[in-house]
Amino acid sequence: MIIHGKALLWDRIENVYIKIDDGWITDISKQAPTGEVIEFDKPGMVILPGMIDLHVHMRDFEQSYKEDFYTGTLSAAAGGVCIVVDMPNTRPRNNRLEVLRRREAVASSKAIVDYGLYYGVPESLDELEGYEELAVGMKIYPQDYDNPHLSDILRYNANKNILTVVHPEDPSDMSRGVRSLSSEYKAISMFREKAVKLGLRLHLTHLTSVNSIFLAQTGESNVTTDTCPHYLLLNSDQHKGIYYKVHPPLRPKDIQESLLENIKQCPLDAISTDHAPHTIDEKMGHDGKGGFPGLETALPILMTLYRRALLTLWDVARLYSYKPAAILGLDDILGTIEPGKLANLVVYDMDGEYPVDPSGFKTKAKHSPFDGMKVVGRVYCTIVRGRFVYIDGEAHVKNGYGVNIKNLLGARPKPVSTGD
Ligand code: NCD
Ligand code: ZN
Repeated sequence: MIIHGKALLWDRIENVYIKIDDGWITDISKQAPTGEVIEFDKPGMVILPGMIDLHVHMRDFEQSYKEDFYTGTLSAAAGGVCIVVDMPNTRPRNNRLEVLRRREAVASSKAIVDYGLYYGVPESLDELEGYEELAVGMKIYPQDYDNPHLSDILRYNANKNILTVVHPEDPSDMSRGVRSLSSEYKAISMFREKAVKLGLRLHLTHLTSVNSIFLAQTGESNVTTDTCPHYLLLNSDQHKGIYYKVHPPLRPKDIQESLLENIKQCPLDAISTDHAPHTIDEKMGHDGKGGFPGLETALPILMTLYRRALLTLWDVARLYSYKPAAILGLDDILGTIEPGKLANLVVYDMDGEYPVDPSGFKTKAKHSPFDGMKVVGRVYCTIVRGRFVYIDGEAHVKNGYGVNIKNLLGARPKPVSTGD
């Protein structure tokens, strides 16, 4: 297969032919090679590396009514996301080896894009050994901070070089339900210190302020960070009500604006969505659920920030594809468009502006804090390992096309064809 169009090659846009064989990019050339060409060289269209979302909740199991691996990965494909990494706060919780194996079975039978799985902090150390065979990492929630085995578990992860992702909100600092920035700072400092001591690969997710991002830095690459589109664009002064409720909460306007203004300059590694679907009923009321879907709005929002000159195209690809690939240890086969890498691509059509319309979402959660916000362009199609999984609103592969990214970790780039 050969596709032609304006593609982002590292930080440059070039008009090229991308040759794809068996799922791998085997050649990139300015001249048309022989063979049938799929044409994307149209005004406004740009070919980007497929996005990688380090923080999503695919739900499924007993919460399939909120989302399942089919609707969740279809939502990803519709958002130009080729890899999702799934959180373990499932029902039942994904912190036992038997549940992890069941999760893999469900994911592999339903997913249409590739996926990674995080494992939860197990209650017993008997449930620790070997989890890394199916999971790319472990997720630590505030409720796990006082787990009596936490030190042993972190040591295990450090020794095996397993990625450890932390939701940083210190519960001891969250009195009477107030989730303040100081509880975020406290948790960041505590885990950063542990990571330095143990040599742990630590990823601090959904940071809500510039200070948090600077605080997380160690000067080494073993501690990485992400923030989410909602912390960049929404704030607690202007955006109130059930559709904006999320953990950690939106911050005041000055904190939010400074995050947006500094997004390029601050040492942020990644953007994730924290795609956390709930039904509208579940969000209602005073004790309604925190979280909302994000997979179908993240890339359009980032492309809107590109149009507003707040980000370059490379910033978009770096934060939502290249660095996430590196954090997962997959950057030699993913994250950029070049020969020797897997053909995970998204064709984005920059033409036009569209209001976000949750009623048309692929996710089961038909609501969004970005409802009605105008975004630039839309995802035209998404390619995973050389296959069109999504074109113009429709899925083009069967459930179960997606594979666990653990299976990609061993895959080595094919020898690059010399072209003839
Ligand atoms: C998360 C969810 O719904 O799973 N919600 C959220 O607001 N991010 C859980 C959580 O992290 O509290
Ligand atoms: Zn989450």
